[in-house]
Amino acid sequence: MKKTLTWTVMLFSSVVAFNASAADKIEAGKAAAEKYNCFTCHGKDYNTPIDPSYPKLAGQHKDYLEHALIAYKRGGNGPNGRANAIMGAQVKPLSNQDVQNIAAYLHSLPGPLVLRK
Ligand code: HEC
Repeated sequence: MKKTLTWTVMLFSSVVAFNASAADKIEAGKAAAEKYNCFTCHGKDYNTPIDPSYPKLAGQHKDYLEHALIAYKRGGNGPNGRANAIMGAQVKPLSNQDVQNIAAYLHSLPGPLVLRK
């Protein structure tokens, strides 16, 4: 009985810790997106880009966003890279942690891109 209780408490604590760290990532991502002025092109709500050819980001899948940002970092010369002059310059100062945090933040925003989560 005692053992079960201990396990339950441990499990509960780790779930709480996980949620806290997910929320921390979203907060840090929001700060990073503001610092690097991502909204100037993608829109304040990341759903209203300044040009219709610029992608909407709000609510997009987190792993897709991470993959896209890392692909811009790789550039167009290697495998799995994206060559884009604008975004290539934008991602230069981002650390891998920034990329993960920003992806978590953008994913958390309401948007029409992801219908089922
Ligand atoms: C000067 C305008 C501009 C700024 C500032 C900008 N972006 Fe972009 N972003 C673009 C354009 C244009 C594209 C489309 C590029 C392409 O065709 O690959 C794009 C594409 C993207 C994509 C790929 C979306 C997809 O659906 O594949 C992501 C993710 C992204 N931007 C995130 C960011 C983040 C994060 C920042 C801030 C660090 C940022 N952008 C700042 C213009 C901008």
